[in-house]
Amino acid sequence: MTQREQIAKERLIVALDVDTKEEALQLTQKLSPYAGFFKVGMQLFYSSGPEIIRLLKDQGVKVFLDLKLHDIPNTVGQAARVLAGLGADIINVHASGGVSMMRQAADSVRERAYALGLAAPLVISVTVLTSIDEQVFNNEIGLPGTIQDRVKKWATMTQEAGLDGVVASPREIQTIREACGPEFKIITPGIRPAWSVVGDQKRIMTPGMAIKQGTSYIVVGRPITANEEPAVAAQKILSEIIEVV
Ligand code: C5P
Repeated sequence: MTQREQIAKERLIVALDVDTKEEALQLTQKLSPYAGFFKVGMQLFYSSGPEIIRLLKDQGVKVFLDLKLHDIPNTVGQAARVLAGLGADIINVHASGGVSMMRQAADSVRERAYALGLAAPLVISVTVLTSIDEQVFNNEIGLPGTIQDRVKKWATMTQEAGLDGVVASPREIQTIREACGPEFKIITPGIRPAWSVVGDQKRIMTPGMAIKQGTSYIVVGRPITANEEPAVAAQKILSEIIEVV
C-alpha cells in the first residue's frame, strides 16, 4: 500500500450498524483492507457490550465509539471516564449539552487515560444531526436561525471547552474550518456516493467532495454495509478518497 493509500484509508470510518458482534467482526475483516476506522454506535454497543471494542482493536483497526452522551455534566463526566478505559480512539458527546458538560467529558477522559497509561481518545461533539433539515430544526426542535450558524456556534463552543473536534454534515465543513482552524477535527456522516441510495439522510455529499472541502474523516454506513458486496463498495469509496488526498 502506498503512503497516499494509507492516508486515504485512515480517513474512512465504516459505521458498523449491526446487531451482533459476529456480524460486526465479519464486516471488519472484509473491510479492513479499505478502511482504517470502524464506528460502534448504540445498536451494536447495546447488543454486544463493551467487549466489542477490544475485539475490534484485536483486529488491528481503530474504533470510534459513537454513543453521543448527553446528560448533566457530572453524569456525562463519569460515563466518559468509564468509556476512556475501553480503548476506543474517538468518543463523543452532544454539543447541545453545553460547555460545562463537554469540558467535564474531555477532562475526565484525559485524566482516566493518563492514569491507565493509555493514549487519550479524541473527544468530539455532535452538532446538528445530518438527518435534520431546516424545517425540523426550526419548527420541531424550535431553534431559531439557520443550521449553518448553529453548527458554527457549537463548533466554536466545542473548541473553547477543549475538545478535539465535531461531527457535522458535509455542508458545514468550510464554515467550521474557517472558524476553528486546520487542526480541529471534523467528522462527517451524511456521505452518499453518486451511485448509492440516500435513505433518511438529508444534508449529504459524495466522499470525494467532502474530503476536498476539508473534512478530517468521513463516516459511511449503509452505502457499504447494505451493499450486496460491501468490500467492492468500500474499495470504490477508498479510490474516490485517494484521488483527492
Ligand atoms: O448509513 P449511514 O451512512 O447513513 O450511517 C451514518 C452513521 O453516522 C450512522 O451510524 C449515524 O448514527 C451516524 N451519524 C449521523 N449523523 C450524525 C452523527 C452520527 O448520521 N450527526
